[in-house]
This record gives sequence, structure tokens and C-alpha cells, in this order.
Amino acid sequence: MTIRVLKAGDIYRIEGPAKVVVRRGQIYATGVTYTEGQVFTVLRARRLAIKAVSDAEVEFVLGPGALLEKAAPGEEIIDEWERHLSALDPRGVVLILGMMDVGKSTVAAMLGNKALAKGYKVAIIDADVGQNDLGPPTTISLARPTRYVTHLRQLVAEKSIFLQATSLERIWPRAVEKITVATEYAKNRWKVDTVIVNTDGWVLDEEAVVFKRQLIERIKPTVIVAIQVENELAPILNGYGNVIVLPPPPYAKKRTREDRKIHREMGYGRYIFPPIELAVSLDKIPFCNLPLFQGVEISGDMRRMLAKAIGMSIIKAYQQGARVYAVVNSDSWMLKKVGGFQVVCIPLDFEKGLLVGLEDREGFLVGLGVLKKLYLDRRRAVIYTSAEVEKRIGDVSCIRLGLVRLDDSFNEVEKVPGLLRAELA
Ligand SMILES: Nc1ncnc2c1ncn2[C@@H]1O[C@H](COP(=O)(O)OP(=O)(O)OP(=O)(O)O)[C@@H](O)[C@H]1O
Ligand SMILES: [Mg+2]
Repeated sequence: MTIRVLKAGDIYRIEGPAKVVVRRGQIYATGVTYTEGQVFTVLRARRLAIKAVSDAEVEFVLGPGALLEKAAPGEEIIDEWERHLSALDPRGVVLILGMMDVGKSTVAAMLGNKALAKGYKVAIIDADVGQNDLGPPTTISLARPTRYVTHLRQLVAEKSIFLQATSLERIWPRAVEKITVATEYAKNRWKVDTVIVNTDGWVLDEEAVVFKRQLIERIKPTVIVAIQVENELAPILNGYGNVIVLPPPPYAKKRTREDRKIHREMGYGRYIFPPIELAVSLDKIPFCNLPLFQGVEISGDMRRMLAKAIGMSIIKAYQQGARVYAVVNSDSWMLKKVGGFQVVCIPLDFEKGLLVGLEDREGFLVGLGVLKKLYLDRRRAVIYTSAEVEKRIGDVSCIRLGLVRLDDSFNEVEKVPGLLRAELA
């Protein structure tokens, strides 16, 4: 424990895990002024800048690996953020944009705090599928804060939507749809005054620009908060007038790809807990995004002819109109044309370790799971999921196949984009 006397105007950077107890005076952090007796925390491996609003005495309880350092004058952007964000009317939809590690989640928390302080009802939507702070990785998650937080991570998602992957590169059109659904849900069902939408850091590619601009067109933000290093967001923001541009914190903690992967893997483990094995009849709860076992089964000579035509042995095949879904002895997903038919070739054992989302009738996530085994003859799936999902199995209307494969310890083994071919068919 360290007790420090701070002078009005002093700025400190703290890396958690740390607890900050205000003993005397006033301390500003994440849009909130904490006074005598109040406490806030800085999470492990996260950094935060704080400022003494008045002369103050502060107790810093620093955990393992925590850091505390005084910022040199002019070094931190805490005042600039505060000035811009306190001038903003948070009512309506606020969209936060920026690259990785620029402080998007911190700004989302700060705006949430500010809207709460004004007495508004607030929803925060975290649409960052790679590093979701509110809910499981691979989701868009929604929470309603009721108290001040220093990090979004301190809030718990009430609703999540499964987005199948850890990045939006290949699936952004669905992300536009689902972020819009989430925003409308917060506005119309929760009837909040403020919706804060945090996004993923994919902003530089041409396609990312199209994605973000379509998102802006759909959710029509009242204001866009753009955290920009140089001028990298210009292609996205071009033509929009309701934009506040902020600089990133100069001493932000950068996370490597590996850090981010480990963080996600812990996320799967945290949400698939306590884990149980669940056997599901796919006749009762089908896949949402692969109509396997539906239509007319093709067997006998017909199947042998089809196998010859596609040059692979077929284990099971089902015809639906002009399309055939065939489980084949192959490693990859393929689309083949045979006569007037389109054959969707599904690799045998494609399911092993596939991340899945069990969805309710409205398309919200009941829980994540990992597919263990598919019994083709019995049309049953064995899924590794949480006890909570088992309890709520009556709410599950379909199982959405994801695009990530995990091993038994929830490590990400590979991406499985092949499934997208079948989805697009
Ligand atoms: N003023 C500050 N000074 C130093 N570090 C800060 C400051 N504000 C936030 N940080 C830290 O910078 C890091 C990045 O911030 P944050 O997580 O908000 O960014 P992000 O854009 O949401 O990142 P990601 O792409 O990982 O989602 C975090 O560790 C955060 O705690
Ligand atoms: Mg973030």
C-alpha cells in the first residue's frame, strides 16, 4: 500500500491490478470525480490516467505487476478527452471508432459514466468481436450500466449476439445487420436515452471503410467519437459532420496478437463454465446456418452416382430442391455443379472443436459451445457447453456454427472459413 499526497492538477498513470482509495480531496478518473471515502479499481494489465481535481491524499493498493507513475506536464490527454466528451450531449446513439489500442473501450466507459451522471438510462453495445469487454469473444454484447466503472470489463452483458468469428473481415455484412438489431433493441425494448456503440479496430482496409460507412448509414449515430492517431479514419469519416476527433493516450498499453488470443481463450473458458456435455437432437434443434439433414435423403445407387460425379465418397447426402448437402470424405468445404444440381460438400468430421452459438428465437445467444461429435445416423450432436445452457435448453431454437476451431482447453486452433461457402450457397 502506498499513500501519496497529490497536488491539484497532478496526473498519474496506473497499471493494474490496483485499488485507488480517495482519503481526502477529489480524484478524476474515466469521466467521474471521486471524493473522500470513494474507491475505484484498475484492472490487471490495464492502464488508466487519473487526475487530482484538488489537493488530495490517495491510498494506492497495488497488486502484483501493478505500476504507478506520475505523468510529466503536457504528457497526458486526460483533459482533452474530458473537455470534448463533457461538451457532448450523450442522448441518442454514440458510435466510437478507432484502431486497436487507441482507447475505444475506455471512452465507452467514460461516456457511459457521463450519461449516468446526467441521469440518463444507458446501454453500451460492444461490437468488438475480437476483444469484447462485455460478453464472450465472437459476440456483440449489450449491457446496461447502473454504476460508474473504470473499465467496460466491470459490466456484465445482458444480451449477446453470436458473430461466429474473432474478426469481421469476411462477415462484416452480418455485423452491420446485427449491430443495427442490437442498437434498435436498446432503443426500443430497453428504452434507454443513450446507446454507446463500441466497435472493432478494423478500420484501415478498403473493405473496413465500406463496413464502417455502412454501419454509420444504418445506425445513424447522433455523434461519432473518432480516436485517431494521424489521419487514418478520414476515409470513414469523410462527409460526416457530427464527429468528435480525439487523440489516443500516448502511453496506452499495447497488446500483441498473442495477448489478444490468450485473452479470448480465457474468455471461452470463462463463458463455457461450468462445462457440461450436452447431447442434442438436431431434429429438434437444427443448425441455424447449415440445413444438414433437411430435405430428401439420397441413398443407394443415386448416392453412388453422385459420388462418382464429384469424385469423392459420400457418407450422407440430402437434396433440397436444386441443392444437395453432402457429407464427404474430404478435408475441405467445396461447391460442385452436377447436372442441374449444386452440391455443397461438407467435410466429414468438420464439426470437431467447432465453436457454436446456441441461439434463442430472437437470435440472441443463450450460450457458447464447442461441437464435439456429430452422429450422422442418429442426427445428434454432442456439445461441450455450460450448465446454464442446459438449464435454458428450452429457449434454444437453433445452433449456429462458428468459424473458429478450438481444442479441449479452448485454445484457438484454426479458422474455418470454408463454412462460409456453404452459407453463401
Ligand atoms: N490515459 C491513459 N493512459 C495510458 N493508458 C491508458 C489510458 N487510457 C486507457 N489506457 C489503456 O490503454 C489500453 C488501450 O485502451 P482500450 O482498451 O480502451 O483501447 P481499445 O481501443 O478499446 O483497445 P482494443 O483494440 O484492445 O479493444 C488499455 O490498457 C487501457 O487501460
Ligand atoms: Mg476495446
